Amino acid sequence: MTSILLTHIKQLLQVRKNSPANIPGTAMDDLPLLEDAWLWIENGVIKDYGHMDELPQVNVPHKDCSSSLVLPTFVDPHTHLVFANWREEEFEMRIKGYSYEEIAAAGGGILNSAKKLQYMDEAQLYERAMERVHEIIQTGTGAVEIKSGYGLSVEAELKMLRVIKKIKENAPIPVKATFLGAHAFPVAYKLNHAGYIDLLVNEMLPQIADEGLADYIDVFCERGYYSVAETEKILEAGAKYGLKPKIHVNQFSSSGGVQVGVKMNALSVDHLEVMGDDEINSLKNSHTIPTLLPSCSFFLGIPYGPARKLMEANLPVALGTDYNPGSTPSGNVAFLLSLACIKLKMTPFEAINASTINAAAAIELQHQLGSITRGKKANLIITQPIPSLAYWMYAFGKGNQLIKEVIIN
Ligand code: NIG
Ligand code: FE
Repeated sequence: MTSILLTHIKQLLQVRKNSPANIPGTAMDDLPLLEDAWLWIENGVIKDYGHMDELPQVNVPHKDCSSSLVLPTFVDPHTHLVFANWREEEFEMRIKGYSYEEIAAAGGGILNSAKKLQYMDEAQLYERAMERVHEIIQTGTGAVEIKSGYGLSVEAELKMLRVIKKIKENAPIPVKATFLGAHAFPVAYKLNHAGYIDLLVNEMLPQIADEGLADYIDVFCERGYYSVAETEKILEAGAKYGLKPKIHVNQFSSSGGVQVGVKMNALSVDHLEVMGDDEINSLKNSHTIPTLLPSCSFFLGIPYGPARKLMEANLPVALGTDYNPGSTPSGNVAFLLSLACIKLKMTPFEAINASTINAAAAIELQHQLGSITRGKKANLIITQPIPSLAYWMYAFGKGNQLIKEVIIN
């Protein structure tokens, strides 16, 4: 039995006696905390916590956390961290004035990644992706969702999903796998969308279900990518295999994709840089979690999602990094939180709720992670001595250096 007692914690954050399913809108600005606290971990699980006045007299190793904040690790509910190579050449094109969409139309973008991935074997892809998984753990991520979508052929999509499965089996943190075969149309099917969708529905999905390779299904519903009708068709096919939708919508344009997500009972709708009142209203009384990816907005120079409006509508906003080689070459949650405060005008409390419990809910891990609750997994961040939570986000760019230790299990 391994056991440890963290003592003299300056602030133990996100303490919830009973774990909520998620924290909606106005409640997000409340982050329950305990000052001068202890936390007892046993066998990878949070056993108990309390005030230093009532420190249990037990013979287990102690770890002094004076001047540190302790909080649950982040959950990253949206990444594409399996890929062959970076795409900094597109970064330079964007500096010269080409947009993400123009670069994609010229053969860059997702198709560029698909070309690179096609020639890389499973072992090497796994090795590179696993390095990224260890990188994000070090910067405080304690659970992650990973998408396919740089394969775009039966063979390569299965290859990507097998890599994700292997990560799931070997990573020290929980991993969820999402099938994103509908990320772009491969060149050969540019004029034959129905042909590719047929491949996706009748060849990819049955094999994915057979091998148990995916938890969720995703579609890039966007002008120039998948139409609303195509999205619905693909999500319906996924539903037959029990795959819940988590979709890319309203990144560059609004088309009704959010409403289709709600109709199909999507677990989350992600991006949402372009949102009207109709879309926001459609999310009320749904189980669909709006997930914002402000690092992508920052990197591409596109608008930021309307976090405040979504919270005013009492929705449980989640945050994800979108870690991928094209639109967000960063899995850095500390920076994401600074952006959430600076650009989305979220308070530090709201940002933490969005990247812990609500992000956990966006990948159905809210019963295991996302709060300091007895019985939950002891995936925790111990910060360096810092004056306050707000300071951590205020000191943008320095957030990772302010993490002293990440405890996993
Ligand atoms: O979430 N928008 C679609 N997919 C990714 C970008 C993929 C890429 O450019 O490689 C995103 O931003
Ligand atoms: Fe994405």
